[in-house]
Amino acid sequence: MGQKFFIPDQIIFGKDALEDSKDIINTFGHKALIVTGSSRTSGEYAKQVTEVLEALGVAYTVFNGISGEPTDRMITDGVTVYRQEQCDFLIGIGGGSPLDAMKAIAILAAKGGEIADYLGKEVNESVPPMVAIPTTAGTGSEATQFTIVTDTKTQVKMLLKGSSFMPTLAVVDPRYTISMPQETTVATGMDALTHAVEAYTSRKAQPLSDNFAISAVKRIFAYLSTAFHDGRNTEAREQMALAALEAGIAFNNSSVTLVHGMSRPIGALFHVPHGLSNTMLIKECLNFALEGAYERFGELGRQIGAADKKDSDKEASEKFLQAISDLCRECQVPTLEEYGIDREEFFGAIEKMAEDAIKSGSPSNTKKPVVKDELVQIYKSLWNKGA
Ligand SMILES: [Fe+2]
Repeated sequence: MGQKFFIPDQIIFGKDALEDSKDIINTFGHKALIVTGSSRTSGEYAKQVTEVLEALGVAYTVFNGISGEPTDRMITDGVTVYRQEQCDFLIGIGGGSPLDAMKAIAILAAKGGEIADYLGKEVNESVPPMVAIPTTAGTGSEATQFTIVTDTKTQVKMLLKGSSFMPTLAVVDPRYTISMPQETTVATGMDALTHAVEAYTSRKAQPLSDNFAISAVKRIFAYLSTAFHDGRNTEAREQMALAALEAGIAFNNSSVTLVHGMSRPIGALFHVPHGLSNTMLIKECLNFALEGAYERFGELGRQIGAADKKDSDKEASEKFLQAISDLCRECQVPTLEEYGIDREEFFGAIEKMAEDAIKSGSPSNTKKPVVKDELVQIYKSLWNKGA
C-alpha cells in the first residue's frame, strides 16, 4: 500500500522568515484575520504581522480571543469576526492554540456548521489560505493536518483531521521563541519529543517520516536542556524550533500513539497544558509500549548515544527510556500532585479518561496492542510518581 507524505505548500525557516514571506503572503487575499492570544506578548507578535501587512497594503483584523487551549466557543467567535469583517485568508501567530484555532475557524468560515460536525472524518474541503507562525517550539501545528478543539458540552478534546487543516504556509523564525518562559520551553519541547518518538514507534511509521523523527529526537536531546537553562541561547532556540517542525512533519505522516491519546483527556478535564500532560505520561506510557517495539526504541537509544551496537534492542530501549526520565528530571517536570490536581477527583475521572482516550484512536497506533483496562492502570500508576 502506498503511503502519503504531506507537508505545507511552503515553509520559510530562519531569521527574518516573516519578512521573507511577504511576497507569498501578498498572493493570499485582500483581508487577513490574524488569530492570536490575548496576552501582551501575543499583541507584540501580532504587531509584527500587522506591520508586514501594512507594508504590503493588505487589510487585516486582529482576533485575539484565544485565551488558553481552543474551545468550540472561541472558534464560533472567531468565525463571526471573520465573516463580519469579510476576511478572505487567515494568519495564526502564537503557540499551538492560536494556530489550531485558526485552522478550525478556516473550515467553519468555508463550510459552516459547528466544529463538532467535523469530528470522526477526514476533512478535505477547500479552505481559505492559512499562514501559521509559531512562537513556541513544540506543537508542530504549523506543519500538521490536525487541530485540537475542546467541546465544552462534553469536556472532550476533539482531534480533528484532514488536509483542510494543513497550513498553506509555515513561517518559523526561532527568534520568536526566545521570550518563552522556562516552563513553556519544557512543556513544548517535551511535546515535540513525544511527537517524534511516537511517530517513529507508531504502527503507521514510514521511511520518509522516520528521517524527520530521528533528526528531531537527536536535536531535542542535544539542545532542550540548554534552551531550558539558558533561554537566550540562540543556537539552542534555533535547533529546538527546527526539531519541533521536524517532529510535526513526522507525526503528521505517522500519527501519535498512546501518550497523546491519554494526554488529551487529562488536559480536557484538569486543564493541564498539553505538553505538560504528555510529559507527566511519557515514562509510564513508553514503559508499556517498549515491549511491542524494542527494535524501534532501541534504535532511538543508539541514535542519541545512550546505547551502542553492543546493546541488544531491549537493552538499548531501556537506556532510551532512562534518558527520557533523566531529561524530565533535569527539566523539573512536576507530578500531577505537584501540579495541584486532587487525587480523588483524578481517580474519579479515570474511567471516562480511558474511554475518551480509546475513542480518539491514537492508542491503537501503538505497536503493542492496548485495551482500556491497561489505560486505567497507567493512569493509576501516575499518581505520586515523577514523569
Ligand atoms: Fe502534541
